[in-house]
Amino acid sequence: MLRRLSRVFGRARRPRPPAGADGPAPVWVDGRTGLAEAFRTLRANLSFAGPPETRTLLLVTSTAPDDGKSTVVANLGAVLAQAGDRVLVVDCDLRKPTLHRMLAVPNHRGLTNVLVQRAPVEELLLDGPVPGLKVLTSGPVPPNPAELLATPEMSYLLAQLRENYDAVLVDTPPLLAVADAAVLAPLVDGVILVVSAWSARVDMVQEALEQLEKARARILGVVLNRTRVPARDYYYYYYRYRRGREREEGPEIVL
Ligand SMILES: Nc1ncnc2c1ncn2[C@@H]1O[C@H](COP(=O)(O)OP(=O)(O)O)[C@@H](O)[C@H]1O
Ligand SMILES: [Mg+2]
Repeated sequence: MLRRLSRVFGRARRPRPPAGADGPAPVWVDGRTGLAEAFRTLRANLSFAGPPETRTLLLVTSTAPDDGKSTVVANLGAVLAQAGDRVLVVDCDLRKPTLHRMLAVPNHRGLTNVLVQRAPVEELLLDGPVPGLKVLTSGPVPPNPAELLATPEMSYLLAQLRENYDAVLVDTPPLLAVADAAVLAPLVDGVILVVSAWSARVDMVQEALEQLEKARARILGVVLNRTRVPARDYYYYYYRYRRGREREEGPEIVL
């Protein structure tokens, strides 16, 4: 798997663009942009990963912050819902939750209220920006995320949610920084590892894959994010972006 990934790096890896070239969250963008097309391709590739019941509950993680985990969860959730699936996205990044902002819903109560106060989960599910897309936000950030995610209540909750949706996508913190994603990995049907073509290092990706294997996770694939930055310099790219032209980077499933 790693050898194939190295080849992709060879094609896609570029130096990191100047700070600030990043722009706002591209979420469930309208149907015409390149990014939306990239997420539809991701949806199609996912469908080749096995029968639906073997890939209902999916965890998305990466080696480091800002690789695009939450972006992938939000947008993949949106395109799956657009295809008619009943989709739930769950913010299990209890360190730095951002899904609620990306999906423009409040985060007064959410997952941690279910885990700590036994709040009924049905009352906390919010409507996302696309019909058919539901959101369970993080809720208040707890002092002990890894322990909370390791509780029997969490496994029970995920199993229960899995029964009620065609797809449940779980957002997590970076795998190499904290244990949270590795704790959840054995509870899900499959793991998607997001790799940023701008910044990932092969040794870090290797370490992440090893951690996931140790956790007995089923690795469904790697999403290579931030690809297709134009070959010309980044100022040109930035300029194009600021002119409101279509973004040219996006996620691809490469494995
Ligand atoms: N393919 C992409 N194209 C443009 N911007 C992106 C892309 N992927 C992520 N971003 C931006 O990078 C920032 C970090 O992404 P995010 O999904 O929050 O990362 P993570 O959840 O891994 O920390 C966000 O501002 C997001 O909008
Ligand atoms: Mg995130």
